[in-house]
Amino acid sequence: MRVTAGMIQYVALFITLLSTWFILQTYFDHGQKAVSLRSWLGASKKPISKQLPRHKCGNQKSCPQNHFAFKIISGAANVVGPSICFNDMVLMSSMKNNIGRGLNIALVNGTSGQPLKADTFDMYSGDINKLDTFLQEIQHGTIVLTASYDDAATKMNDKVRAHFVELGSSHVNEVGFRDNWVFLGAKGLKNKSPFEEHIKNDEKTNKYDGWPELLEMEGCAPRKTD
Ligand SMILES: *[C@@H]1O[C@H](CO)[C@@H](O)[C@H](O)[C@H]1NC(C)=O
Repeated sequence: MRVTAGMIQYVALFITLLSTWFILQTYFDHGQKAVSLRSWLGASKKPISKQLPRHKCGNQKSCPQNHFAFKIISGAANVVGPSICFNDMVLMSSMKNNIGRGLNIALVNGTSGQPLKADTFDMYSGDINKLDTFLQEIQHGTIVLTASYDDAATKMNDKVRAHFVELGSSHVNEVGFRDNWVFLGAKGLKNKSPFEEHIKNDEKTNKYDGWPELLEMEGCAPRKTD
């Protein structure tokens, strides 16, 4: 077969179209093909050192040995529910559908870290004796995690406040209507708990109409070892 000038022209055109297609695929396609080509070239893998480490409960720091990571977030106004995370387990949250208006309380074995109980107490119109009994039955060595939602004080009484004081609270006596309060204490604590935050409902400083800013507290609670 004779190679004609016409045939060479067709081959040249074909090669040009093929390379144009390849260049377009490589540089202008932001879809799947371009991505896989980049990863094939080894460019898409980030160096491992640049990835931020994830800490338990999504906390900023990791905890030392014999400590449990925790994060307690109060409710925001009467709209967004609170959440309680302990040792990377979400014990209470809207997603788990086990929170409610008032006080949300989770109990954990302070030695093993094992979750024991979680319950919600309506402090606006619920039966306060239910909370009184719940707090009274807490066993020695139990860690208690508490988060307020909407209103945590209307039904509060001296007996219930005394139980929280015994668990290491310094602020429970000041918690009032629509204040936010987050607290981690334990039955049998010798000192006051360092893990507590309280914000007053005050129309001059409130973030929301009728409620203060939500509270978020994270830290490392020591394991009970004795
Ligand atoms: C807590 O855990 C320890 C160790 O596993 C166990 O001996 C103790 O009985 C538990 N206490 C409660 C109240 O569950």
